[in-house]
Amino acid sequence: MAHIVLHPRWQARESEATSEHTYRNRRQFIEALGLGAIGLGVFGATGGCASPYGGPLDTIPQNAPRDGYPAARNETFSVPERPVTGRLYASSYNNFYEFDGRSKEIWQLTDPYEPFPMTIRVRGLVEKRRTLDVAKLIRSMDLEERLYRFRCVEAWAMTVPWTGFPLSKLIEACKPLSSATHVRFVSVNRPSQMVGIERQHWYPWPYYEGLRMDEAMNELAFVVTGMYGEPLPKQNGSPLRLALPWKYGYKGPKAIVRIEFTDKQPGTFWNDLQPNEYGFLSNVNPNIPHLRWSQASEELLETQERVPTRLFNGYEEWVSALYPNEPRQPGGPLAR
Ligand code: MTE
Repeated sequence: MAHIVLHPRWQARESEATSEHTYRNRRQFIEALGLGAIGLGVFGATGGCASPYGGPLDTIPQNAPRDGYPAARNETFSVPERPVTGRLYASSYNNFYEFDGRSKEIWQLTDPYEPFPMTIRVRGLVEKRRTLDVAKLIRSMDLEERLYRFRCVEAWAMTVPWTGFPLSKLIEACKPLSSATHVRFVSVNRPSQMVGIERQHWYPWPYYEGLRMDEAMNELAFVVTGMYGEPLPKQNGSPLRLALPWKYGYKGPKAIVRIEFTDKQPGTFWNDLQPNEYGFLSNVNPNIPHLRWSQASEELLETQERVPTRLFNGYEEWVSALYPNEPRQPGGPLAR
């Protein structure tokens, strides 16, 4: 383990770390998607694979709760400066390591995965341990739609209408003790349904993430149950995942099955693997370059337009006060 250098899929390897490589891959992907957009059936065929799905939207689980869809848009969260990313792009260009998308797109590998029924165990510093049925939880919440920017650490970005409810509502339902300072989230671990888990046995499965309590209770922190007016496709994290739009995408765990409250900063998947490259906070910040590339700009998925990266991904108004030590200027101290 100690000798293996681990590289997330969204990160170019040392030997291929030119931006040109990343660009070429994305271009090929986008060209394939162009074909697929003409007819979803063609999309599967161009992948040259035995996926049972005709296209990336066929992976929405049949038994996902549909009450409350499509939910009304909460207009507080608008993204006026860029177009909404096409649905096919957001449901095809994914990261979900449990499925290991090296040979195929993630969505083409999700057939064995059954997101429902699913439960979430609530543990740690809580009044009472409890187990939540995810379908019941979703039905019990007032769903709303929020258009959010999404920024991957690898400098590509999209704009997605997520459906869900504020994370603060879920935290309140968990009844944490006042001594809890942090919350840890753990993703589902089903090697028999998720082909990437055994194939990439060197990763410390299950995927796990964490937040400070003030971050988790922030108005922006969102539990996602759907996108584009429908329940989440499997590859986007069904049955539910987090969207934290001011942070890099890897801070939003998919298919959450455990929530744990603690009085210490918890470890997180990528921070434990590569602490010098992936911090605990991981706020979107053009002033903190990645060790091997700049974060000053980003490429929009679909249009391929390159635009400047915004501090906190454009959500300063909501989260700036949480991070007094985050560098506001290039060259400031690194807040990890
Ligand atoms: N959650 C789990 N369980 N496993 C993962 O591999 N990848 C993360 C995050 N959540 C990941 C995860 C990363 S690196 C990103 S960029 C986003 O999911 C991607 O979300 P999307 O596929 O919906 O765009």
